[in-house]
Amino acid sequence: MPRTPIIAGNWKMNTDAAAARELVEGLKAAGVSDIGGVEKVLCPPFVYLQLVAESVKGTSIAVGAQNLHWEEKGAFTGEVSATMLKDFATHVIIGHSERRQYFGETDEDVNQKLRAVLDHGLTPIVCVGETGPERNAGKMQDVLRAQIKGALADVTLPDSAVIAYEPVWAIGTGVAATAEDANAAIAFIRSEVAPLQGDATAQAIRILYGGSVTPANIAELAAQPEIDGGLVGGASLVADSFAQMVKAVASS
Ligand code: PGA
Repeated sequence: MPRTPIIAGNWKMNTDAAAARELVEGLKAAGVSDIGGVEKVLCPPFVYLQLVAESVKGTSIAVGAQNLHWEEKGAFTGEVSATMLKDFATHVIIGHSERRQYFGETDEDVNQKLRAVLDHGLTPIVCVGETGPERNAGKMQDVLRAQIKGALADVTLPDSAVIAYEPVWAIGTGVAATAEDANAAIAFIRSEVAPLQGDATAQAIRILYGGSVTPANIAELAAQPEIDGGLVGGASLVADSFAQMVKAVASS
């Protein structure tokens, strides 16, 4: 079965309410909802999830959160649970490198978050990726292996699960991995998932590339056999560029 590609927009800590609404309206006006053969996911900040969910109602555009807490409820000031997200989102980004880097998230945290997401029937987008120094030291595969093993410990992934390979050195730098390098890293990730989850699951899950994806490079990236679309930060904040990337992936 061919894997349906995904373009997911990670808005990070950007937009305000008016800009969020305008962005969604721009995407609808650009015809994003009518483009078939590709899943479209918007991941706004928590406070705009409801607004975005209401704006995309009746379209083919899905909504994702950027993070969550693994507990159901309780005294966890400032946190948001899967139960709360479920009302507005179908997807959740987990373990983004900015969470790991700035907020100390560990592979164990990622594992707990993944369990919570799966327990609630949400679709995870689990992020992994090496830093520049790790890559230069020849440790890329070791880092990816450890992140995958840590994230997937005692977890059974559904075929709908998503992993995003996001080399930290490529995020927000304007320097994307080459299509060949990204394809090789993603092939490696799939080969690490196989013994943990079975060959069929490893072949079924979508693995995205993220890190300076733009309308200029997405077609070449998505044309690679292992790359199932993109997790896009900066270029997802402009309606026309998001629409162009969705179109490029749909026809790749
Ligand atoms: P970028 O971010 O597209 O702005 O590089 C990607 C990401 O962090 O998900």
